[in-house]
Amino acid sequence: MRKTRKGKILVTSSVAQAFALEGKKRFTLRCMWVPFSTLMSIEQYFAAQFNTAPAFVARAPGRLEFIGNHLDYNGGLVLGAAIDRYVTVAVAPRADRRIVLASESQPVRVENSLDALAPAKGATSWGNYPLGMLKVMRDAGLEVSHGFNLAVSNDLPIGAGLSSSAAIELATGLALGALYHYSLDRRQLAFLGRAAENNFVGMPCGILDQGSSAFGKAGSLVLIDCATNDFSTRPMPGGTHFWVFNTLKKHTLIDSFYAARNRECMESLAILRQTAPSLANLATATEEQVKVAREDLGETRFKRALHVVREMARVRDTLAALDAQDTARVGRNLTASHGSSRELFENSCEELDFLVARVVGMPGVFGARLSGGGFGGAAMALTDGSFSADAAGQLLKDYRAKFGNVPTIFSSRTGDGAALL
Ligand code: GLA
Repeated sequence: MRKTRKGKILVTSSVAQAFALEGKKRFTLRCMWVPFSTLMSIEQYFAAQFNTAPAFVARAPGRLEFIGNHLDYNGGLVLGAAIDRYVTVAVAPRADRRIVLASESQPVRVENSLDALAPAKGATSWGNYPLGMLKVMRDAGLEVSHGFNLAVSNDLPIGAGLSSSAAIELATGLALGALYHYSLDRRQLAFLGRAAENNFVGMPCGILDQGSSAFGKAGSLVLIDCATNDFSTRPMPGGTHFWVFNTLKKHTLIDSFYAARNRECMESLAILRQTAPSLANLATATEEQVKVAREDLGETRFKRALHVVREMARVRDTLAALDAQDTARVGRNLTASHGSSRELFENSCEELDFLVARVVGMPGVFGARLSGGGFGGAAMALTDGSFSADAAGQLLKDYRAKFGNVPTIFSSRTGDGAALL
């Protein structure tokens, strides 16, 4: 349990599970968020860690993937949303060349030297995100003559498929930019964050997470054309809300599964290019092209490619439905996207399938799908205002009866993108 910047206590998964195990009576969703009157600000946390005040504070939001599953690294269109939960980073200069990182949500500090930046494994690996950001910023020309202390706090759940990693990268980028007089626009920030993730952390992600966190806007979805790197926003459908269901399941092979999907898509593109050399990327192939190449692709790549081209069609249809203010049609696309992840891209899991199947049948729900890389992590539902905590509580009970534990659930609004505070 810990204090958040919004003056509430987030009951973490283990506490939520403890409530669940205590018996039905206490098993209500109201346990998940409890009002709290005082809170430790990032400034207070920084002072407690380093005995000084921070020089700069920046924050960046988590994101939901609205639709466009695994389309970003395939040159497709993706719709994301920044949510109103953030990672906040505070920094102050040091006189020496050391870097010291502390995080409210991590038991271990990270200590490093400006002259020996390398990714770590184990308990200090959380530091790879800020250190990776520093590394790519220096590669891009940031001049650093002295070290720094850096503190992190978050009201964004870590490891919940809401991209806390992109959020810490972007908040670090803004804070270090201010510290070392290096200004970055949103686009530079997003691409540096992705470079940190690809080249330092070692995750071959696309631009969805960093782009949504950088360009997010309250009340809006973020549309990214990953072929042209064009970022824009679209209004959220009126009267809708997000509910997020975190399975708490994190497959140990999640990163290698993600990399395998990435590789299968690149192989599919190479095969399709044998007959269509001018094909720019997999997301712009036609379903016909994929079907004609079925034998050459083989069954696995055929399924991956079919998911990608159909998902691209669903994103286009979702954009048209948003323009037409047809929220029911938007919702049908979300649910169809999940079905395709389950059947064709095979990046869902039993827990996500259960949550999506259950929530889609409930009153007030337009649609639901896994959000992000998959293989565990979070599902999200788009609902109207009538979907309540009580309905979500019923879902938790059913989930517990089947899987023996409970997911964390919360409702979420869209939030503003990364900013220096
Ligand atoms: C993760 C990655 C993103 C994107 C999604 C799947 O969130 O970080 O770049 O590929 O998975 O759409």
